Amino acid sequence: MKIGIIGAGNMGSTAAHHFAEVGHEIMVCNSRGPETLTDLVDELGPNVQAGTVSETAEFGEIVIEAIPLHAYESLPADVLSGKIVISMANYYPGRDGLMDVGESYMALVAEHLEDSRVVKAFNATGWPTFRDEQRLDADPDDRIAVFVAGDDDEAKEVVSDLIEEIGFTPVDVGPLVEGGRHIENGSPIYTAALTASEAQPRLAALKTTVAAYEHGYYSSSQEITLQDLADELDMSEESLSERLRHGTELLISKYLD
Ligand SMILES: NC(=O)c1ccc[n+]([C@@H]2O[C@H](COP(=O)([O-])OP(=O)(O)OC[C@H]3O[C@@H](n4cnc5c(N)ncnc54)[C@H](OP(=O)(O)O)[C@@H]3O)[C@@H](O)[C@H]2O)c1
Repeated sequence: MKIGIIGAGNMGSTAAHHFAEVGHEIMVCNSRGPETLTDLVDELGPNVQAGTVSETAEFGEIVIEAIPLHAYESLPADVLSGKIVISMANYYPGRDGLMDVGESYMALVAEHLEDSRVVKAFNATGWPTFRDEQRLDADPDDRIAVFVAGDDDEAKEVVSDLIEEIGFTPVDVGPLVEGGRHIENGSPIYTAALTASEAQPRLAALKTTVAAYEHGYYSSSQEITLQDLADELDMSEESLSERLRHGTELLISKYLD
């Protein structure tokens, strides 16, 4: 498959390495032009070439964006129209400046790329983990989880297959914005380098705890009882309690770390 990678820093160049190694054709770009990427292209071998941003967007059947969030509006939405775009982006105010990101910065990216099939993936995989923890020979449960969020199930499947090809295990967190916010900076599963078997129960506990909060279970007037919440979430009271205990522990340990 032809994969275009916009951004050739830590994440973009590592993605180029991994996907080229399993036989994909790669074009990478940065903000300064292809002539600044000759060393990288030489190092990564014949499956990798450099282009401009619009050449890279044109080249890719799938395009990965791995640039700082503040530059999202420079992604060429017209050329990316109709394509699957994997967004690795995160929001760091110290780097990106203060931005009005609303419920999630992914809504901004998705709005800019409104005609693309945006899938959020790899954003919660720390770069050293992404670089060093490919486990091509391991059982899927024992590989490092790469969380995937998106509104287009078919696009998520394509991205999930690519994740498997390079030795990680995709773990679906749900829709782009609503699911994606569970894997953003501040979440206890963000860059936690979890195997898939560790990631699944933590994600479930976290989602349930957030849902409980949103239903008013933790409000001072406790707007909903455990029993009502169990009915609402279609769970037994026992497994709900267990998830809430686990989710609370995860959140507390995150903030005590
Ligand atoms: N590092 C991590 O552990 C990690 C993990 C997961 C996700 N992420 C996220 O992934 C994204 C990239 O992170 P990174 O660590 O790879 O950053 P990085 O090492 O700083 O690399 C950023 C790359 O983006 C390019 N770039 C910047 N503005 C651009 C534009 N307008 N058009 C095209 N290319 C542009 C830069 O090119 P120039 O050098 O030419 O400007 C550089 O190649 C960020 O949103 C980050 O939050 C990072």
